[in-house]
Amino acid sequence: MNLILLGAPGAGKGTQAVRLAAKLNIPHISTGDIFRKNLKEGTPVGLKAKAYIDKGELVPDEVTVEIVRLRLAEDDCKKGWLLDGFPRTIAQAGALDKIAKIDAVINLDADLTKLIERLTGRRVCGACGESYHVDTYSKTECAKCGGKIIRRDDDNPQTVESRLNVYTAQTEPLIAYYAAKGVLKTVDGMKPIDAVTAQIYGALGV
Ligand code: AP5
Ligand code: MG
Repeated sequence: MNLILLGAPGAGKGTQAVRLAAKLNIPHISTGDIFRKNLKEGTPVGLKAKAYIDKGELVPDEVTVEIVRLRLAEDDCKKGWLLDGFPRTIAQAGALDKIAKIDAVINLDADLTKLIERLTGRRVCGACGESYHVDTYSKTECAKCGGKIIRRDDDNPQTVESRLNVYTAQTEPLIAYYAAKGVLKTVDGMKPIDAVTAQIYGALGV
């Protein structure tokens, strides 16, 4: 299956993508994770992306589309894939339509005002990327791999506000775009994590 997880910053795309990709045994492709990896390695793409990510803006479409096009051409994508955080603009969606057929788009519906707290309180493992929240996890080491727990640079209040505004202006129109194609499945992203997962499995019949 070729799947997309759509949703605002903090809606739970990463959290749900890890579970769904493991269940379906398909690769989880997060453009945000790809940019952060490039940034860590100091590649030209990473350095270019940093300027946008730090401001909470979108990396230009031509850069992002090319990264996804190359990734989807890799061998492990032959059995299907799960995109997390791509597409985020109508132009990206149009470019993806030319690359592949989409089987389903899961839209994680969320109350944007509540996402500010989720994001500013989020902590992640710097090694494996596992997500936590300060309210429920106060340790400095990852429970999964022992890596150091860090705060993402773009999870400060100012950048979070900008990311949510960018979502409303540029990404939210994709809900209507995919609804018109008949592939949209909306689930309630404000329910507890396990309940959201159950809704997604139910919507996909997996
Ligand atoms: P990206 O890394 O994709 O960030 P984002 O879209 O802002 O989304 P997040 O990763 O912050 O949130 P999420 O939905 O994955 O939530 P999570 O599961 O972690 O992109 C970063 C930047 O890269 C962008 O701003 C842009 O600059 C650039 N970029 C990336 N893709 C691009 C593209 N296509 N085009 C152009 N630029 C691009 O959950 C968040 C927190 O909530 C966690 O603490 C989690 O534990 C908790 N949580 C999750 N679900 C629940 C729940 N149901 N109940 C309670 N808590 C929950
Ligand atoms: Mg994410």
